[in-house]
Amino acid sequence: MRVFVCKDYEDISGRASEEIAALIREKPTCVLGLATGSTPEGMYRKLCECYQAGELDFSGVRTVNLDEYYPISPENPQSYHSFMNRVLFERVNIRREQTYLPDGMAADANAACLDYERMIRELGGIDLQVLGIGQNGHIGFNEPGESLIPLTHKTALSENTVNANARFFQHMEDVPRYALTMGMKTILSARRILVLANGKSKASAVAAMLSGRVTTSCPASFLNLHDDVTLFCDRDALSAMETSGDKETL
Ligand code: GLP
Repeated sequence: MRVFVCKDYEDISGRASEEIAALIREKPTCVLGLATGSTPEGMYRKLCECYQAGELDFSGVRTVNLDEYYPISPENPQSYHSFMNRVLFERVNIRREQTYLPDGMAADANAACLDYERMIRELGGIDLQVLGIGQNGHIGFNEPGESLIPLTHKTALSENTVNANARFFQHMEDVPRYALTMGMKTILSARRILVLANGKSKASAVAAMLSGRVTTSCPASFLNLHDDVTLFCDRDALSAMETSGDKETL
Protein backbone atom coordinates (compact mmCIF):
# COMPACT_ATOMS: atom_id res chain seq x y z
CA MET A 1 0.00 0.00 0.00
CA ARG A 2 1.36 3.42 -0.90
CA VAL A 3 0.79 5.93 1.89
CA PHE A 4 0.84 9.66 1.14
CA VAL A 5 0.76 11.99 4.11
CA CYS A 6 -1.08 15.08 2.95
CA LYS A 7 -0.95 18.58 4.46
CA ASP A 8 -4.64 18.76 5.26
CA TYR A 9 -8.11 17.78 4.07
CA GLU A 10 -7.87 20.10 1.03
CA ASP A 11 -4.65 18.42 -0.01
CA ILE A 12 -6.21 14.93 0.37
CA SER A 13 -9.20 16.04 -1.70
CA GLY A 14 -6.98 17.64 -4.34
CA ARG A 15 -4.71 14.62 -4.76
CA ALA A 16 -7.64 12.21 -4.92
CA SER A 17 -9.48 14.34 -7.49
CA GLU A 18 -6.32 14.57 -9.60
CA GLU A 19 -6.06 10.77 -9.70
CA ILE A 20 -9.66 10.50 -10.85
CA ALA A 21 -9.35 13.33 -13.38
CA ALA A 22 -6.23 11.70 -14.85
CA LEU A 23 -8.07 8.40 -15.22
CA ILE A 24 -11.07 10.05 -16.91
CA ARG A 25 -8.74 11.78 -19.39
CA GLU A 26 -6.86 8.57 -20.09
CA LYS A 27 -9.98 6.41 -20.31
CA PRO A 28 -13.12 8.50 -20.92
CA THR A 29 -15.38 5.45 -20.52
CA CYS A 30 -13.79 4.34 -17.25
CA VAL A 31 -15.81 2.67 -14.48
CA LEU A 32 -15.42 4.58 -11.22
CA GLY A 33 -16.29 2.92 -7.94
CA LEU A 34 -17.60 5.71 -5.71
CA ALA A 35 -18.01 6.16 -1.98
CA THR A 36 -20.22 8.33 0.19
CA GLY A 37 -19.60 9.80 3.65
CA SER A 38 -18.12 13.15 4.53
CA THR A 39 -14.54 12.19 3.61
CA PRO A 40 -14.87 12.21 -0.21
CA GLU A 41 -17.04 15.37 -0.34
CA GLY A 42 -14.03 17.64 -0.95
CA MET A 43 -12.84 15.36 -3.75
CA TYR A 44 -16.26 15.56 -5.44
CA ARG A 45 -16.25 19.35 -5.04
CA LYS A 46 -12.89 19.57 -6.80
CA LEU A 47 -14.04 17.27 -9.60
CA CYS A 48 -17.09 19.51 -10.12
CA GLU A 49 -14.79 22.55 -10.24
CA CYS A 50 -12.66 20.86 -12.92
CA TYR A 51 -15.81 20.13 -14.91
CA GLN A 52 -17.04 23.73 -14.56
CA ALA A 53 -13.66 24.98 -15.73
CA GLY A 54 -14.13 22.89 -18.89
CA GLU A 55 -11.26 20.57 -17.93
CA LEU A 56 -13.20 17.31 -17.56
CA ASP A 57 -15.84 15.47 -19.56
CA PHE A 58 -17.98 12.94 -17.67
CA SER A 59 -20.18 11.99 -20.64
CA GLY A 60 -18.61 8.57 -21.10
CA VAL A 61 -17.94 7.79 -17.42
CA ARG A 62 -19.77 4.95 -15.70
CA THR A 63 -20.06 4.86 -11.90
CA VAL A 64 -20.94 2.17 -9.38
CA ASN A 65 -21.38 3.04 -5.72
CA LEU A 66 -20.18 0.93 -2.86
CA ASP A 67 -23.35 0.80 -0.84
CA GLU A 68 -26.81 2.10 0.03
CA TYR A 69 -28.91 1.95 3.17
CA TYR A 70 -31.70 -0.62 3.26
CA PRO A 71 -34.55 -0.04 3.14
CA ILE A 72 -34.49 3.56 1.96
CA SER A 73 -36.10 5.37 -0.93
CA PRO A 74 -33.76 7.07 -3.42
CA GLU A 75 -35.71 10.32 -2.82
CA ASN A 76 -34.93 10.29 0.90
CA PRO A 77 -32.39 13.13 1.37
CA GLN A 78 -30.27 10.83 3.53
CA SER A 79 -30.07 8.08 0.90
CA TYR A 80 -26.77 7.59 -0.85
CA HIS A 81 -28.67 8.11 -4.12
CA SER A 82 -29.53 11.64 -2.96
CA PHE A 83 -26.02 12.23 -1.68
CA MET A 84 -24.45 11.31 -5.03
CA ASN A 85 -26.95 13.47 -6.91
CA ARG A 86 -26.13 16.44 -4.71
CA VAL A 87 -22.34 16.16 -4.67
CA LEU A 88 -21.66 15.02 -8.23
CA PHE A 89 -24.30 13.71 -10.61
CA GLU A 90 -26.39 16.92 -10.77
CA ARG A 91 -23.29 19.05 -11.21
CA VAL A 92 -21.47 17.38 -14.09
CA ASN A 93 -22.41 16.05 -17.53
CA ILE A 94 -22.56 12.41 -16.46
CA ARG A 95 -25.35 10.37 -18.06
CA ARG A 96 -27.66 9.30 -15.20
CA GLU A 97 -28.36 5.95 -16.83
CA GLN A 98 -24.64 5.23 -16.48
CA THR A 99 -24.65 5.69 -12.70
CA TYR A 100 -25.47 2.75 -10.45
CA LEU A 101 -26.14 2.29 -6.75
CA PRO A 102 -27.56 -0.72 -4.91
CA ASP A 103 -31.36 -0.65 -4.86
CA GLY A 104 -32.38 0.37 -1.35
CA MET A 105 -36.04 -0.30 -2.20
CA ALA A 106 -35.64 -3.81 -3.65
CA ALA A 107 -38.37 -6.19 -2.50
CA ASP A 108 -35.85 -9.01 -2.74
CA ALA A 109 -32.54 -7.74 -1.37
CA ASN A 110 -30.61 -10.92 -2.25
CA ALA A 111 -31.74 -10.80 -5.87
CA ALA A 112 -30.83 -7.08 -6.04
CA CYS A 113 -27.33 -7.91 -4.75
CA LEU A 114 -26.86 -10.63 -7.38
CA ASP A 115 -28.03 -8.17 -10.06
CA TYR A 116 -25.53 -5.61 -8.81
CA GLU A 117 -22.65 -8.06 -9.14
CA ARG A 118 -23.80 -9.01 -12.65
CA MET A 119 -24.05 -5.34 -13.62
CA ILE A 120 -20.46 -4.65 -12.43
CA ARG A 121 -19.22 -7.63 -14.47
CA GLU A 122 -21.10 -6.43 -17.54
CA LEU A 123 -19.50 -3.00 -17.21
CA GLY A 124 -16.13 -4.74 -17.42
CA GLY A 125 -15.20 -4.34 -13.74
CA ILE A 126 -14.18 -1.29 -11.72
CA ASP A 127 -11.14 0.68 -12.90
CA LEU A 128 -10.71 2.72 -9.74
CA GLN A 129 -12.52 2.28 -6.43
CA VAL A 130 -12.61 5.19 -3.97
CA LEU A 131 -12.98 4.27 -0.31
CA GLY A 132 -13.41 6.10 2.96
CA ILE A 133 -12.87 4.18 6.17
CA GLY A 134 -15.23 3.77 9.10
CA GLN A 135 -14.03 4.56 12.61
CA ASN A 136 -14.16 0.83 13.31
CA GLY A 137 -12.22 -0.06 10.15
CA HIS A 138 -15.21 -0.86 7.94
CA ILE A 139 -15.07 -0.26 4.21
CA GLY A 140 -18.31 0.13 2.31
CA PHE A 141 -20.49 -1.46 4.97
CA ASN A 142 -18.27 -4.49 5.53
CA GLU A 143 -18.28 -4.36 9.30
CA PRO A 144 -15.77 -5.99 11.67
CA GLY A 145 -16.84 -9.46 12.75
CA GLU A 146 -15.92 -13.12 12.70
CA SER A 147 -16.16 -13.34 8.95
CA LEU A 148 -16.59 -11.21 5.86
CA ILE A 149 -18.87 -11.79 2.90
CA PRO A 150 -17.18 -11.75 -0.51
CA LEU A 151 -19.89 -10.38 -2.80
CA THR A 152 -22.58 -7.67 -2.64
CA HIS A 153 -24.95 -8.47 0.21
CA LYS A 154 -27.41 -7.14 2.76
CA THR A 155 -25.79 -6.45 6.10
CA ALA A 156 -26.74 -5.26 9.58
CA LEU A 157 -24.89 -2.11 10.62
CA SER A 158 -22.83 -2.23 13.78
CA GLU A 159 -23.77 -0.07 16.76
CA ASN A 160 -20.63 2.00 16.16
CA THR A 161 -21.70 2.72 12.56
CA VAL A 162 -25.33 3.47 13.50
CA ASN A 163 -24.03 5.96 16.07
CA ALA A 164 -21.57 7.50 13.60
CA ASN A 165 -24.39 7.91 11.04
CA ALA A 166 -26.82 9.38 13.58
CA ARG A 167 -25.46 12.90 12.90
CA PHE A 168 -27.15 12.85 9.49
CA PHE A 169 -30.64 12.03 10.83
CA GLN A 170 -33.07 14.03 12.93
CA HIS A 171 -34.16 11.14 15.16
CA MET A 172 -32.18 8.13 16.31
CA GLU A 173 -35.03 5.84 15.20
CA ASP A 174 -34.62 7.13 11.62
CA VAL A 175 -31.01 5.89 11.39
CA PRO A 176 -30.98 2.83 9.11
CA ARG A 177 -29.98 -0.50 10.68
CA TYR A 178 -29.25 -2.31 7.41
CA ALA A 179 -27.50 -1.65 4.15
CA LEU A 180 -26.64 -3.28 0.83
CA THR A 181 -22.91 -3.21 0.27
CA MET A 182 -20.31 -4.48 -2.13
CA GLY A 183 -18.44 -7.36 -0.50
CA MET A 184 -14.74 -7.62 0.14
CA LYS A 185 -14.10 -9.57 -3.07
CA THR A 186 -16.10 -7.01 -5.08
CA ILE A 187 -13.91 -4.23 -3.66
CA LEU A 188 -10.65 -6.15 -4.11
CA SER A 189 -11.57 -6.89 -7.74
CA ALA A 190 -11.21 -3.21 -8.62
CA ARG A 191 -8.08 -2.64 -10.68
CA ARG A 192 -6.94 0.27 -8.46
CA ILE A 193 -8.08 1.45 -5.04
CA LEU A 194 -7.82 4.91 -3.44
CA VAL A 195 -8.42 5.21 0.30
CA LEU A 196 -9.02 8.61 1.89
CA ALA A 197 -8.77 9.20 5.63
CA ASN A 198 -8.55 12.35 7.70
CA GLY A 199 -8.90 13.25 11.33
CA LYS A 200 -8.14 11.66 14.67
CA SER A 201 -11.39 9.68 14.67
CA LYS A 202 -9.87 7.47 11.95
CA ALA A 203 -6.49 7.02 13.63
CA SER A 204 -7.08 3.63 15.23
CA ALA A 205 -8.72 2.22 12.08
CA VAL A 206 -5.82 3.46 9.95
CA ALA A 207 -3.27 2.04 12.40
CA ALA A 208 -5.02 -1.36 12.28
CA MET A 209 -5.13 -1.21 8.47
CA LEU A 210 -1.40 -0.48 8.29
CA SER A 211 -0.40 -2.89 11.05
CA GLY A 212 0.74 -5.49 8.54
CA ARG A 213 -1.92 -7.98 9.64
CA VAL A 214 -5.03 -9.00 7.76
CA THR A 215 -7.93 -9.49 10.11
CA THR A 216 -11.72 -9.45 9.94
CA SER A 217 -11.67 -7.26 13.06
CA CYS A 218 -10.45 -4.49 10.71
CA PRO A 219 -12.01 -5.09 7.27
CA ALA A 220 -9.82 -2.33 5.76
CA SER A 221 -6.78 -4.50 6.53
CA PHE A 222 -7.87 -6.77 3.64
CA LEU A 223 -6.71 -3.98 1.32
CA ASN A 224 -3.19 -5.26 2.05
CA LEU A 225 -4.04 -8.20 -0.24
CA HIS A 226 -4.38 -5.85 -3.23
CA ASP A 227 -1.41 -4.78 -5.36
CA ASP A 228 -2.50 -1.25 -6.20
CA VAL A 229 -3.84 0.64 -3.20
CA THR A 230 -3.02 4.28 -2.43
CA LEU A 231 -3.88 5.92 0.88
CA PHE A 232 -4.16 9.70 1.03
CA CYS A 233 -4.37 10.77 4.66
CA ASP A 234 -3.45 13.56 7.03
CA ARG A 235 -1.19 13.37 10.08
CA ASP A 236 -4.16 13.11 12.45
CA ALA A 237 -5.31 9.94 10.70
CA LEU A 238 -1.80 8.52 11.21
CA SER A 239 -1.51 9.70 14.79
CA ALA A 240 -1.95 6.23 16.27
CA MET A 241 1.20 5.16 14.37
CA GLU A 242 4.74 6.42 14.34
CA THR A 243 5.40 7.64 10.84
CA SER A 244 6.24 10.74 8.85
CA GLY A 245 6.64 11.73 5.22
CA ASP A 246 5.47 9.90 2.10
CA LYS A 247 6.24 6.25 2.54
CA GLU A 248 5.78 2.85 1.04
CA THR A 249 4.49 0.10 3.32
CA LEU A 250 4.08 -3.64 2.83
C1 GLP B 1 -20.21 5.08 5.85
C2 GLP B 1 -19.99 4.60 4.42
C3 GLP B 1 -18.52 4.32 4.16
C4 GLP B 1 -17.69 5.50 4.65
C5 GLP B 1 -17.87 5.68 6.12
C6 GLP B 1 -17.04 6.80 6.72
O1 GLP B 1 -20.30 4.06 6.74
N1 GLP B 1 -20.72 3.43 4.10
O2 GLP B 1 -18.35 4.09 2.78
O3 GLP B 1 -16.35 5.28 4.35
O4 GLP B 1 -19.24 5.97 6.34
O5 GLP B 1 -17.74 8.01 6.64
P1 GLP B 1 -17.10 9.42 6.84
O6 GLP B 1 -16.30 9.67 5.61
O7 GLP B 1 -18.27 10.35 6.95
O8 GLP B 1 -16.28 9.36 8.06
